[in-house]
Amino acid sequence: MKFCAPCLFGIEGLVSEELKENEFENVLAENGRVTFEGDVSSIARANICSRFSERILILLKSFKAITFEELFEEVNSIEWAEYLPKDAAFPVNGWSLNSELHSIPDCQKIIKKAIVKSLAKNYGISWFEETGANYPIRFSILKNQVSIMIDTSGEGLHKRGYRTKANAAPIKETLAAAMCKIARIRDYHTLYDPFCGSGTILIEGTMLANNIMPGIRRGFISEQWVSIDKSIWQDERSRALDLIKHNTDFIAYGSDIDKDAIELTHANANRFSVRNKLKLSVCDIKHFEPKSEKGTLICNPPYGERMMEQRQAREIYKTMGKIFEPKRGWSYNIISPDEEFEKIYGAKARKRRKLYNGMIKCTYYSYF
Ligand SMILES: C[S@@+](CC[C@H](N)C(=O)[O-])C[C@H]1O[C@@H](n2cnc3c(N)ncnc32)[C@H](O)[C@@H]1O
Repeated sequence: MKFCAPCLFGIEGLVSEELKENEFENVLAENGRVTFEGDVSSIARANICSRFSERILILLKSFKAITFEELFEEVNSIEWAEYLPKDAAFPVNGWSLNSELHSIPDCQKIIKKAIVKSLAKNYGISWFEETGANYPIRFSILKNQVSIMIDTSGEGLHKRGYRTKANAAPIKETLAAAMCKIARIRDYHTLYDPFCGSGTILIEGTMLANNIMPGIRRGFISEQWVSIDKSIWQDERSRALDLIKHNTDFIAYGSDIDKDAIELTHANANRFSVRNKLKLSVCDIKHFEPKSEKGTLICNPPYGERMMEQRQAREIYKTMGKIFEPKRGWSYNIISPDEEFEKIYGAKARKRRKLYNGMIKCTYYSYF
């Protein structure tokens, strides 16, 4: 079975690495997605264990199409009854970029028709009630290259289940996890986020350091599918539980100027049972004081565009540059969309990496 894991631009390498660690085969990174191979149990493992990808899709077919006839024929030639039971619901959604077939509603209609015709041949009926489990069909068309997929995740994988409410500008969970991985968080480290907001970086860092799989507390749409035995999900969940590192020395310090943000972090951490690893306080960055000899600081300070004027955001960068003292055993990792960041912070980063925070192009600066 072939799969595809779409991800944020810039973290395809991390997704490949984690898929290989989870023993998937033929892992291949492309732009904004990684393809890999596995069997039916891979659906459960990839959904439960993928920290950095957005969802897990079964990749049924890739082909070139520039006419609706070609699209119809290619989709119709897939053995749909192998995947969709008679009562399956199969809504079709997708996107098209730089391609002849650019009308999304037309592509949706053609794909749906082609699936119905294929199923009709197998099931001997021409009208499908679609009252059963959901099998969302996804298509992507990039430069006339079409991919036809079935979504196995349902809600995006960034939804871990701990953040029911967020503050004004939360960072996406998958991006926060990637930032922690790039900063090489270990189970004996002390993590700091002095702009913790709803606590995403602190919680993702704790999960990464203690090997807590991100999907362990949520459900996936493919759990409703008859083709995947319930025991596969049970086995993969037990495997994930066995992999958790208990009793590590990892600790995470979080602070924020906003009292409500600290309460939110508290509530979110409780929801994932990682509250005992976190030490939280209300604090202005001006008064930031490290509590340990060594530390890994990861943060996304306020952005001019979203939360406050650029001038105020830059004042904060200046303060950070003064108080984040370069010393042995410390690394400071900061994401910002401000191209002047290093100048205002007052030092050149040892490493820079382009990352996207939603649609905002950012740089992840590492000082160590
Ligand atoms: C972009 S948000 C961080 C979001 C966070 N990563 C999350 O996922 O929820 C920036 C945070 O910086 C906090 N902040 C603003 N000015 C601050 C200051 N002077 N000192 C400390 N925190 C500050 C805000 O209250 C806000 O929660």
